[in-house]
Parts: sequence; C-alpha cells; structure tokens
Amino acid sequence: MTFTTRVTRVVEENPKVRTIHFRHEKAGEARPGQFVMVWIPGVDEVPMSLSKAGRECAVTVGAIGDATSAMAGMKKGDVIGIRGPYGRPYSMTHRRILFVGGGTGIASIATAVEAHRKKRRSCTVALGARTKELIFFANRFKRAGAKVRITTDDGSMGEKRFVTDTVEEELRRGAFDAVYTCGPEKMMARVVDIANAARVEVEASLERHMRCGFGICGACTLDDGGERVCQEGPMFTGKELRKITEFGKYHRDASGRKVA
Ligand SMILES: Cc1cc2nc3c(=O)[nH]c(=O)nc-3n(C[C@H](O)[C@H](O)[C@H](O)COP(=O)(O)OP(=O)(O)OC[C@H]3O[C@@H](n4cnc5c(N)ncnc54)[C@H](O)[C@@H]3O)c2cc1C
Ligand code: FES
Repeated sequence: MTFTTRVTRVVEENPKVRTIHFRHEKAGEARPGQFVMVWIPGVDEVPMSLSKAGRECAVTVGAIGDATSAMAGMKKGDVIGIRGPYGRPYSMTHRRILFVGGGTGIASIATAVEAHRKKRRSCTVALGARTKELIFFANRFKRAGAKVRITTDDGSMGEKRFVTDTVEEELRRGAFDAVYTCGPEKMMARVVDIANAARVEVEASLERHMRCGFGICGACTLDDGGERVCQEGPMFTGKELRKITEFGKYHRDASGRKVA
C-alpha cells in the first residue's frame, strides 16, 4: 500500500544529483540494498534505492526522464507516495568488502557501507562516473571510515581511468572476501568477471523497469530463468548471474522491447 508523506529536506549532492529526505515508518526498517516505489503525484511511480533508512529515510536521484527530473526539482513540503521496502538486500555476511558504485548506483551501496563500518569491518569504496558531476557521497564514505578511490572517464575528479581498472588493482592485492556493486550494467558485468576470475564472491544490484515492485506483474523478469528483479533481486550473487543470460547484454524498455 502507498503511504503519502512530505519531503523533509532536499540536499544538492552535485549539479545533477539530489537526495530527497522523508519520514516513513516501514521504509525506515529497510535493509541495505532494498528499494522503495516512489510515487510522484501527476507524473509516475519509479523504483529507487534507499540511500538512508531509519527515523529519517532518503532516496538519491539523478535526473534522466520525467519522473527523475520531477523528483530532482522537489522542495521541502512536497508530497510523495512510498511503497515498500521491497527486494532482496545485500547479504552483509562478509568482513572485508570492496564496494563498486557507478553513476546513481552509488546510492544503493551507501547504507551497506555505513552498516559494515558500524561493525568495524574493512571497506574500500571504488566510485566511478563519466564526469565529476556524477560523483557523490565520497565524503560521506570517508566520514564512515572507508577507503575511497574515485575514477572519472574524463579525469575531472580522481584518477582518469575506468573504475574496473581500480577493481582489478585492488583485487590483485587480495585483501577482500567480497565485492558488492551497483551501477551501469556493462560496468557491473565487468566487475563480476574480474571478481569471478579472482575467486572473490560478488553481489550485484540490477535495475529493470518495474511496475508492481513486488513480483506479480512480470515487468522485471529476466531471461532465461524468469527471476524477477523486484523479488529475487535486485541483489544477485555472481553464481546466480552466470545463469542470467541477459545480464550485461540487454534489458527491456517500458513496452517490453529489448534494448541493448
Ligand atoms: C531497484 C532499482 C533501484 C533504483 N535506484 C535508483 C536510485 O537510487 N537513483 C536513481 O536515480 N535511479 C534509480 N533507479 C532507476 C530509476 O528507477 C529509473 O531511472 C527511473 O525509473 C527513470 O524514470 P524517468 O521517468 O525519470 O525516466 P524514463 O523516461 O522512464 O527513462 C529514461 C531512460 O532510462 C531508462 N530506464 C528507465 N527506468 C529504467 C530501469 N529501471 N532500468 C533500466 N533502464 C531504465 C529508459 O529506458 C530510458 O532510456 C533504480 C531502479 C531500480 C529498478
Ligand atoms: S515489477 Fe512487477 S514483477 Fe517485478
């Protein structure tokens, strides 16, 4: 059921990304990696990872289309509807984790990094984006006590390289039990390959078009096994991803058509 609430504050993370805070009892109980369906009155309803849970919750949005642009323009006091939390969270059983976040996928790893650091577990966060405008939460991760490495395609922030080069470098040092990743799917597919080759466990959070968000409409079903991203995911393990034939290759648009 959707419960409406009001935006309590909006934080500009950078020129393109906003964090929208609100209060919501159920969403506050979310585990790291879970998502909510956010209804923007008069526009649409879209899935969003919770970038904060607890007494105050938040989603962090990058404007790309109608719904995300409307969200990015929201102000304190605006009404939104929230359903959830939904989905399978990160497993959180590992002790030394390399987190890899790309683009707005950075939002999905935020609560996982902080929960691990609260338990004094070792966390390295590799953040990658096309340009510096798309990097956010770097200081938040540093404050939590994580080691942070930033890469941008154009070199406008951090190292000028692909984030996957950093992943290869870190895994060569061999000090990790697992890699948790969320970001563009081609990036994640490469991260999963690197982790599999290094024999390190890996968990990736997938994005697909969603309608119901809890497993009945079939909009987010994956080839070939029929896993539903909203129900069996969004987190999938490296072993599971080997059987998902569309992973890293294509997804479906709102009408169900394949898009590379
Ligand atoms: C579990 C989950 C968590 C998410 N968390 C976040 C988040 O924390 N922050 C954030 O900014 N975005 C997040 N997203 C993505 C977000 O839901 C979509 O970007 C949003 O639905 C786009 O809506 P729109 O109306 O702005 O754009 P549209 O006009 O609907 O789409 C713009 C473009 O993005 C593509 N697209 C739209 N939705 C998806 C999708 N779900 N998967 C793949 N491609 C898509 C479209 O095909 C189109 O090319 C998440 C998605 C999922 C499934
Ligand atoms: S969104 Fe309906 S089954 Fe996943």
